Amino acid sequence: MNNKDEMPNTGNTTIAETTAPDLEIPYESCLIEGIPDPCMIVIVGASGDLTARKIVPALFNLYLNDGLPDPFHVVGCARTKLSDQEFRDKMKNALLTAGTLDVSKWDSFAQLLHYHPIDYKELSSFSTLAGSLGELDKKHGTGGNRVFYLAIPPSLYKSTAQMIGMAGLSIEGEKKTGWSRIVVEKPFGHDLDTAIDLDRSLHEHFQEHQIFRIDHYLAKETVQNILMFRFANSIFEPIWNRRYIDHVSITAAETLGVEHRSGYYEQAGVLRDMFQNHMMQLLALTAMEPPSLFEANRVQDEKVKVYRSLRPFPTDDLQNYLALGQYGAGSIGGKRVPAYRDEQGISADSLTPTFATMKIFLDNWRWQGVPFFLISGKRLAKKLTEIVIQFKEVPHSMFRRTLGEQITANRLILGIYPDEKISMTFQTKNPGAKVCLRSVTMDFHYHQNYTGPILDAYEKVLLDCMLGDHMLFWRQDGVELCWSFLTPILKECETCANRGEALLTYDSGTLGPKAVGGLSKKR
Ligand code: BG6
Repeated sequence: MNNKDEMPNTGNTTIAETTAPDLEIPYESCLIEGIPDPCMIVIVGASGDLTARKIVPALFNLYLNDGLPDPFHVVGCARTKLSDQEFRDKMKNALLTAGTLDVSKWDSFAQLLHYHPIDYKELSSFSTLAGSLGELDKKHGTGGNRVFYLAIPPSLYKSTAQMIGMAGLSIEGEKKTGWSRIVVEKPFGHDLDTAIDLDRSLHEHFQEHQIFRIDHYLAKETVQNILMFRFANSIFEPIWNRRYIDHVSITAAETLGVEHRSGYYEQAGVLRDMFQNHMMQLLALTAMEPPSLFEANRVQDEKVKVYRSLRPFPTDDLQNYLALGQYGAGSIGGKRVPAYRDEQGISADSLTPTFATMKIFLDNWRWQGVPFFLISGKRLAKKLTEIVIQFKEVPHSMFRRTLGEQITANRLILGIYPDEKISMTFQTKNPGAKVCLRSVTMDFHYHQNYTGPILDAYEKVLLDCMLGDHMLFWRQDGVELCWSFLTPILKECETCANRGEALLTYDSGTLGPKAVGGLSKKR
């Protein structure tokens, strides 16, 4: 997809500055939704990357913004033998390296961090952990409330959740004071069967209300804003349908390559890594009906209806609906980068796709016949996440004698990254004696006139787990419906005789494979 016209086009339009004064919003009232019960977060896999890069920095920032309960404690667990002090130092170094260490507050925060070595295969190790958690509870008054965050490879999810349960740590309610929650990150399985199997294991000891399946896209401010934008305004909903919308493009383009995750990515590829989760959530938020109340289960119900409306993918006509690609060598930001097959840990004849564009339809009243293009890939020209609502052209041009037939149709862009903005493109008369039209855009930048602190995605999900709010997490029925949709596609792609030829290549730093344009024509 090297041709500019083939990538969802954000247009060359003049920017019209918005001049209306905004209301000042006191940020304190919007930052934290309520302080959770006193509790403990037990990070299983605490010596790994995720803990140092995301979880502890997020907790530290919540601490700085008075978002943590009091008392609150963190217990890191992993195979590596560390003392409390060594764990604290490791976390401090990570924050220092990331440039996010507030030295004046670190020492008091560090007192909340503890470490407990664990053997994932030994039940006795989890029983000892249970004893230590009980003692910490007594000492610090954390009320027996615990979040178990699985920051471990997905292959360990099942056994670890079972060990936690068998050690009596999932019990809550009448039998024990305090609540117990478990947090898992995607991937939730590798296909439909493994997703069901994982869920069955989680449910052996945990009930649905105790399980939090993270999708960090849901916690992005601009993604959360989609529902506010659609359903807190009355002017968009009447035109948010097949009568006015020509097509929708949802793009998540990245410049990063596979990084240090070759083992996982070789097995996953872009469809499992991005489509089964983030892309499906963006689709649901864009396409769903208004829930009767902004409440987790009602929102989830509406998302699930979208997934139920997914038209089964025509696996016998894949080339018209799906294009897969894999990055070759190229240059990004002036730096040479290797081909996917030359990355460390990737097989030299790998057929794993790193790019996909997919055309899907929703068989329901609102969206019948409107194509949704989902596009995601690694090592593309720029990092861009956005949803483009492309409206239809005017039904009849009264300007055809003066301006010709074609009038550029309206476009609404919900920018998620790097521009967190909403922009609307429309036609105006060009100033001057001659009658000419020009496209202009009206932009709203999400942080316009807001100077307060912002919760990043991990801070938001950690806070919501502690609060027990499932709004920004996956519910299992949604997971399974998305896998039901994707599994036949994956099966066909991974077993078809022409798998090699069907995988297009693209140079790193471009817009993707050149031959993708054909998808856009057929409805
Ligand atoms: C993750 C994927 O879930 O999302 C990564 O596993 C991808 O491969 C990342 O890079 C993209 O997230 P973001 O927030 O940078 O768009």
